[in-house]
Parts: sequence; C-alpha cells; structure tokens
Amino acid sequence: MSAPLLSVENLSVDFHLKRGWLARSLTLSAVRGVSFAIEPGRTFGLVGESGSGKSTIGRAILRLAEPSAGRILFDGADIAAGGRRTPLAYRRDVQVVFQDPLSSLNPRQSVGTTIAQAIRRHRRSSGAALEKEIAGVLDSVGLATWQAKRHPHELSGGQRQRVAIARALAVRPRLIVCDEPVSALDVSTQSQVINLLVDLQRERGLSYLFIAHNLDVVRHISHSIGVLYLGRLVEVGPAARVYGAPAHPYTRMLLASTLVADPRVQAERSRARRTLPRSEPPSPLAPPPGCAFHTRCAWADETCRGGAPAFCARGGDRLVACHRLEEIERCAH
Ligand SMILES: Nc1ncnc2c1ncn2[C@@H]1O[C@H](COP(=O)(O)OP(=O)(O)OP(=O)(O)O)[C@@H](O)[C@H]1O
Ligand SMILES: [Mg+2]
Repeated sequence: MSAPLLSVENLSVDFHLKRGWLARSLTLSAVRGVSFAIEPGRTFGLVGESGSGKSTIGRAILRLAEPSAGRILFDGADIAAGGRRTPLAYRRDVQVVFQDPLSSLNPRQSVGTTIAQAIRRHRRSSGAALEKEIAGVLDSVGLATWQAKRHPHELSGGQRQRVAIARALAVRPRLIVCDEPVSALDVSTQSQVINLLVDLQRERGLSYLFIAHNLDVVRHISHSIGVLYLGRLVEVGPAARVYGAPAHPYTRMLLASTLVADPRVQAERSRARRTLPRSEPPSPLAPPPGCAFHTRCAWADETCRGGAPAFCARGGDRLVACHRLEEIERCAH
C-alpha cells in the first residue's frame, strides 16, 4: 500500500457558540478524535446523518475550519505548519465540489469565465491557449465547447455539477473534497456524475474525500468508508466490508434506511428496519455520555452508558467502536 496523500490524525473541531452577550459561551464538539487516511488515486467515503460533522471535517481539510486538536498531513507535511496562510500549492492541490452548484457558481459569470478564473489564479494563460484549455476541461467532464458561453441558470443540475467539477479539475488538483456532490440530483443523474468522477480518478490518479448521507451513494465510488456519528467515527474499513457486512449497529441502521430497487434486498432491509429504533439523533451540544449511540441502540446496556468504546480490529482492516460487538456477532451467526 502506498504512503497516504492525506492523513487526518485525531482531529477535533469545536465551535464556541455565544448565547446573548451576558450568557456564557457553549462549546459544540462537531468533530471528536477522527483519524483516517486517503491514498493517492483512492476514495474515502464519509457517511453519517445531518449534523454528524462530515462537512466540518471537509472544511478542516480545506482550512476553512480550525482544528481544536489533532493534525492533518498532506504528503507527509502538517498543513498548518506555515501558520494561518495556506501555501498556494496546497490551495491548488486540494479542491472542493459542493452539493449545490447554483450557490457555489457565480450566477453572473459564464461557464468559460468561471473556469478561466480558476486557471488564472494558479498559472498564466490567455488567448487561444486559455480557450483551448477551457475546451479541454469541459470535454473531460462531458460538456461541449459551446457550453462555455452558458450561465449557470441555463444548465441542468447535472450539467451545473459538471461545471463545478470542471472548475476543480482546471487547476490540476491531487485531492478533491466532494461534499455531497450528487445529493441534489435525481437518481439517474447521480450515477452519471459518480461515473464521471470514477473515470476522472482512473485517468488522473485523483484522490477523493466523498461525503454523503447515504451508504448506497458512496458504495460505488469509495475504496474505504468511514461512518460518523455525532462527530466520532464508529466504523472504518474497506468499502466492500463496511457495506457488505456492516458491524456497528449504527452502520446497520444507516444501511437499513436506504431504499434500493432490488425487491429482495428491499425486503431484507425493511425487516432490519423494523428491529431498529427510528429516533432523531441527539443534540451535539449535549451528546449522550458513554457510547453516543446508546440512546438509539437496541443492543445498549449499562457498559454503553458508562464509557466511550475504543476501536476493535475486525479482520480485513476494519475498525469498529462498539462495546457489544461480540454479542452482536454471536447473534448474527
Ligand atoms: N460555523 C459553525 N458554527 C457553529 N456550529 C457549527 C458550525 N458549522 C457546523 N456547526 C455545527 O457542527 C455540527 C456538524 O455540522 P456539519 O455541517 O459538519 O454536519 P454535516 O454532517 O455536514 O451535516 P449535513 O449532512 O446536514 O451537511 C452541527 O451540529 C452544526 O450545527
Ligand atoms: Mg454537510
């Protein structure tokens, strides 16, 4: 296995919220002790419910959120080593594609201008050479050269997301943080955009951090998957194992809540759904003590309320943080 391109080590991110000018400030721990690595040319899929801290991890990697503990290494070097200023090379190497291209693309700018700006922020290019480059990136995301003249509102959701990908690609990054890039698209467009990302990765050796709510979405694109619950990873491992044989009760719950076309799989999942609690996640301002999932977990006992579970290794590079793992596994056989 090659050296990681990105390593997130024990990352925690706190937000200090002020409630009125006299009240004491509250600390919201959005991310707590998260570690994972992404190898060159690989995808790490990060899943979890709304508010679990997925975007905050992405923002910390993009240096848009300040870690309160831990560090992030890119190519072996601490990204915070140079102080507040992010080196230009890092700003080029790490790009982002957000969920909603309508708000991340400038509505008054044509597609061509948006891409030209991205290119010129990192290297000199003008005239025919710049036009050729723009046509090249548009082609690589499946758009025609004439679409450079279009404005975001004249494009479909899928085309707009292709423009956002083209803008990221234009500066030749090594890692793209994809924060729910297909969540706003209909299912068939979702798979087209995911296939495009997979092809681009194969051609260019790109790495992705791919964030989604849904395990089914990350499954086809990810090599490894991390499942996040209230800011902590509860299960990490190779995609086929996490998806094919989920170990943590929360991973099982996430998987059971996804809808699939195959009626046999669907029947199996509806059976699993009936045995699982259907409650809302607790507030990250007051996470339950012990294992934060215990308030929603059918397996929880006193141990789970006591202390946070450590990671246990489960063959094939998988880590699972659950006190009751052995009992759960025994019952599954
Ligand atoms: N700038 C901020 N200031 C205060 N709290 C924040 C800030 N950004 C995020 N949070 C809080 O941190 C927690 C994690 O938020 P985050 O956006 O990372 O979740 P997420 O998993 O991306 O959710 P979603 O699926 O809805 O996008 C949430 O409780 C959120 O309210
Ligand atoms: Mg988010």
